[in-house]
Amino acid sequence: MDILFFGGSFDPVHNGHENILRTALNYKKFDKIIVMPVGSPGHKPSCKAPFPVRKYLVEQAFSDIGVELLVSDFEGNSREKSYSYLTVDYLKSVYPQATIYFIIGADSAINMKSWARWQYLAGQVTFLVFAREYDEDDLLTAAVKEIQQYSPDTAIIRSQVIPVSSTQLRNTAAAGGDISGLVDGKVSALIEKYHLYADDFYERNIGTAQLLIPLMLREKRAQHTFNVAKLAVQFAEKYGVDTQKAYLCALLHDIMKQQPDRIMLHRAQQSDIIEKIAAKPMPVLHGFAAADFARREMGIEDEEILMAIKSHTCGRRNMSNLEKIIYLADMLSEERDFPEKEPLLALAWTDLDIAMEQALKDSINWLKEKGGAIDSDSYEALEYFTTLNHGGNCNG
Ligand SMILES: [Fe+2]
Ligand SMILES: [Fe+2]
Repeated sequence: MDILFFGGSFDPVHNGHENILRTALNYKKFDKIIVMPVGSPGHKPSCKAPFPVRKYLVEQAFSDIGVELLVSDFEGNSREKSYSYLTVDYLKSVYPQATIYFIIGADSAINMKSWARWQYLAGQVTFLVFAREYDEDDLLTAAVKEIQQYSPDTAIIRSQVIPVSSTQLRNTAAAGGDISGLVDGKVSALIEKYHLYADDFYERNIGTAQLLIPLMLREKRAQHTFNVAKLAVQFAEKYGVDTQKAYLCALLHDIMKQQPDRIMLHRAQQSDIIEKIAAKPMPVLHGFAAADFARREMGIEDEEILMAIKSHTCGRRNMSNLEKIIYLADMLSEERDFPEKEPLLALAWTDLDIAMEQALKDSINWLKEKGGAIDSDSYEALEYFTTLNHGGNCNG
């Protein structure tokens, strides 16, 4: 089995990438293409668009490439900075019989010696070095010769270079310019519709979240999310809270809810003090994981937003009005049905603190009946709102 491997930021994928892929496909027939967008293992995003969006755009752009395509999550889910040799080790473990053809640019080939464990890596793969059609480059020829000592079939593949870069594309998109000639039609339509590279914080992040929801949540959970967002905005209007902030928090509050436990847990662990996370019941961790996603994948640094996403299931002392709104909107969204809903909704329209006290009581009671674990933050929050509302009389 011959696998063509192509890694990069793909922020966003563009016609230059497609040209490289098609040049490789002209060089040789492949059984499978694996495209691997980089992840964001650091504190700040390494890319403007979050991983699931970049992945989806790649899938759209290469959907008619004519060879079986897999856009891999491996680096997207990685907790650490990924090195190519580790990625290739992973591919070899999944496809032990395969020959892996690894696309790199001419610059990468020339600088191969700066790559971690490059001789080992070269021993595992065959590089296809993409270069400009008429370039006679002694440096490149010499570099490829050296690589061939470890990877004898490494070859230079040549084509006209399409003059487009992701940076230039992002800038053009941010300025509202036309990018339709530089990227796949489906990709440009998505970038435009969801404002994926807009300069404005809310325009970009709200649009991005709207695209992420159907990519990361099944239909019922997605519908719940949009219902929460609608109610959160109504509460925000009533209580003088920034409606865009409330809308964005609500769109992201459950974004990690349907991810595998392993991924949810590692994101939650990165979101807060590790001991605090360790003491929390599993069902509340998706809020913490979502806050980590918002920070690392979307670059959202606003602590008020992150806190409202974190506390939406468990609550806490000293909740801001934004946090109360997200907590209550989550509990009272249109599709939910439980006996105490109507009186609680009436309270939420009257007084956020009284409503929070009742909401916490209701959810603690519900968890007790169900035998579910109760987060200590929820007890503390109930005590806090009870004291706030009744001046210290816990039975009041
Ligand atoms: Fe939730
Ligand atoms: Fe929710």
